[in-house]
Amino acid sequence: MQRRRLPGTDLELSALGLGCWTLGGTWWGPDIDDARAQRTVHAALDAGLNWLDTAPLYGNGRADRIVAQALAGRPDVVVATKVGVRTTGEHAESDLSAAHIVADCEASLRRLGRDRIDLLQVHWPCERGTPLEESLSALSSLQERGLVRHIGLCNYDAPTLARARQLLPLASLQTPYSLLRREAEAALLPECATARGQPPRPLGVIAYEVLCRGLLTGRYRRPPDFPDSDQRSWDPRFQGPRFAHARSLLDDLQQVADKVGAPLPALSLGWALQQPGITLALAGARSPEQIQQSAQLGRLLDRPKLWSVVARIAALHGGS
Ligand SMILES: NC(=O)c1ccc[n+]([C@@H]2O[C@H](COP(=O)([O-])OP(=O)(O)OC[C@H]3O[C@@H](n4cnc5c(N)ncnc54)[C@H](OP(=O)(O)O)[C@@H]3O)[C@@H](O)[C@H]2O)c1
Repeated sequence: MQRRRLPGTDLELSALGLGCWTLGGTWWGPDIDDARAQRTVHAALDAGLNWLDTAPLYGNGRADRIVAQALAGRPDVVVATKVGVRTTGEHAESDLSAAHIVADCEASLRRLGRDRIDLLQVHWPCERGTPLEESLSALSSLQERGLVRHIGLCNYDAPTLARARQLLPLASLQTPYSLLRREAEAALLPECATARGQPPRPLGVIAYEVLCRGLLTGRYRRPPDFPDSDQRSWDPRFQGPRFAHARSLLDDLQQVADKVGAPLPALSLGWALQQPGITLALAGARSPEQIQQSAQLGRLLDRPKLWSVVARIAALHGGS
């Protein structure tokens, strides 16, 4: 698996990281059991992945506990997590007050059983009016205390991101990006590519939802019927014309996948990792087999002709 450096940091990360949301649960339908979740983490490491992405929200701490158990004795594996969401029952809201940021980070450290978080990312922008300066200064204080190595943001727009980068050296931005969702190309990726800060440097971009919650694995021939507890039951991409659009793209991609003998998830992820400005990609998984399929992109990344064919198909079908 190719390794890529997050700009301005000492983090040399596998191009693909394991996303732990499905392992923790919350809005993904029936939970998977702990043993399978841990086997999935181990399968990711065996496939050459050296980092994973979790969050307090994922199963209200359950993903963190699974990660802590699976990574016992593996301090070499890089853990990225998030901060700043407050949950009450089914309701989740961003609270970026300094007090909540500090308490949330300290709770993550306890659950993960680590002394330091390698990459701490704000989960999503503030919904309670806390000034950006206060939130960033709380993150900076965690760094000064040695509890956090690098700081990133998720889901910020380009202007707010530009302002944040002037206030604090950041390592990364996490954003949705896939064959079916390319709006980041308009302003966000150009902002990340712009060198800022002291010394000036670009910002690493971590793409999530690259498999479009499973749609871009090609597994659904018809619009699927998810239980109400699964966020995909109300996701318009799994219904009507948007599903049909995805299906026609996937039919074309399948022909390429058959020719090169690679699974569709690997092609969808590989396409994202070929795009200018995308540093790393995340894939969620519910089983060892799923992450093993995704990880097959590792043997495809250095095949430029393959990616020019995939790029032509992507252009033909456009983004939405
Ligand atoms: N920062 C943020 O706000 C944010 C938001 C979303 C996600 N993320 C991160 O990104 C990670 C990835 O999650 P995502 O939401 O982006 O989902 P995703 O990776 O686009 O999709 C994951 C789902 O795809 C299906 N899948 C994966 N490999 C498969 C295979 N080989 N064959 C068939 N199906 C397969 C599984 O669905 P089933 O479970 O149905 O089997 C899996 O749960 C998360 O875990 C999280 O770390 C971050």
